[in-house]
Amino acid sequence: MDWKAYERDAKAAVEGASTSEEVESVSVSFLGRRSQLKQALREVRDRETGMQLNAIREAIESAVAEKLAKVQAEELARRLTEERVDVTLPAELVGPVRPRRRGSLHPSTQVRRDVEDIFLGLGYEVVDDREVETTRYNFDALAFPAGHPTRSPRQTLYLTDDTVMRTETSPAQIHKMERQRPPIYMLSIGRVYRRDTIDATHFPVFHQFEGLAIDKGITMADLKGTLLYVMRQLYGPEREVRFRTHYFPFTEPSMEPDVSCPICGGTGCGTCKNSGWIEMGGSGMVDPYLYEFVGWDPEEYTGFAFGMGIERTAQLRHGIPGIRPFWENDLRFLRQF
Ligand code: DAH
Repeated sequence: MDWKAYERDAKAAVEGASTSEEVESVSVSFLGRRSQLKQALREVRDRETGMQLNAIREAIESAVAEKLAKVQAEELARRLTEERVDVTLPAELVGPVRPRRRGSLHPSTQVRRDVEDIFLGLGYEVVDDREVETTRYNFDALAFPAGHPTRSPRQTLYLTDDTVMRTETSPAQIHKMERQRPPIYMLSIGRVYRRDTIDATHFPVFHQFEGLAIDKGITMADLKGTLLYVMRQLYGPEREVRFRTHYFPFTEPSMEPDVSCPICGGTGCGTCKNSGWIEMGGSGMVDPYLYEFVGWDPEEYTGFAFGMGIERTAQLRHGIPGIRPFWENDLRFLRQF
């Protein structure tokens, strides 16, 4: 066996290999278990032949290692250029695009935003207010007499003897009046809490929007015109607004505004119980008691206020039969909006 020729052939084969797989297979055939070299090494009997063959093995091994390092470096460099991802390319140019489901705003949020937009357009300021109130602001300032049923812990969630979860957004009126002198054009939206048992139309938490306008010379005609405009913005240009007399401790006179039924247009249907009208909430002219409460001369200003339900508005806009779905977070419901 000409081992010098074996070494030369091996080195030439290593040199000729151009990929790491080719280098590996050259290595197997010249150095592997079944190679002539390995077989000869196994049969070595004298020290001199052993040293010679081992020297050849080491020479081939180092040629293989050197070449392998070189082609692997080249392969890595090639992959880095060829497989670079251009993250600015539109996804569909690069590969199949999995459609992504878009979320949508909760129907309560949609109504809240619409209501805010409508009032911002009328020049109102949108203000946030607290959900935890003292009985002073939730009841006393709004002229709820001692013993009024809403003051009962059976109707209202008390945190301490004189702190409650607000039962309505109306306390925002007082906070605003304490901060600012008229002209006041304020809208406040938020959660309110009542100890109601859950059924189709009741839930212990819901949203209201509260309006307050105080200036010189404001009349009921302004209240009616404002509500007519807002209802037409919310439910379409055909809507009409009418008032029924009512009682609220903090307005005088107090009125409940009705809007002509957005479902049937006023001819009568199940939603409006065949009356053609839907009750929208409460309203009235600000009671002079409130001006006195914040230390103003009740002869100087007049104003109106109103409060309405957000969920109720969304129900009417979309024909949603109850209030529970608003709080259940069932995607089959929410995806419809
Ligand atoms: N706060 C009343 C309620 O929750 C609604 C209301 C009535 C608000 C008359 C007002 C108002 O601002 O003037 O039932």
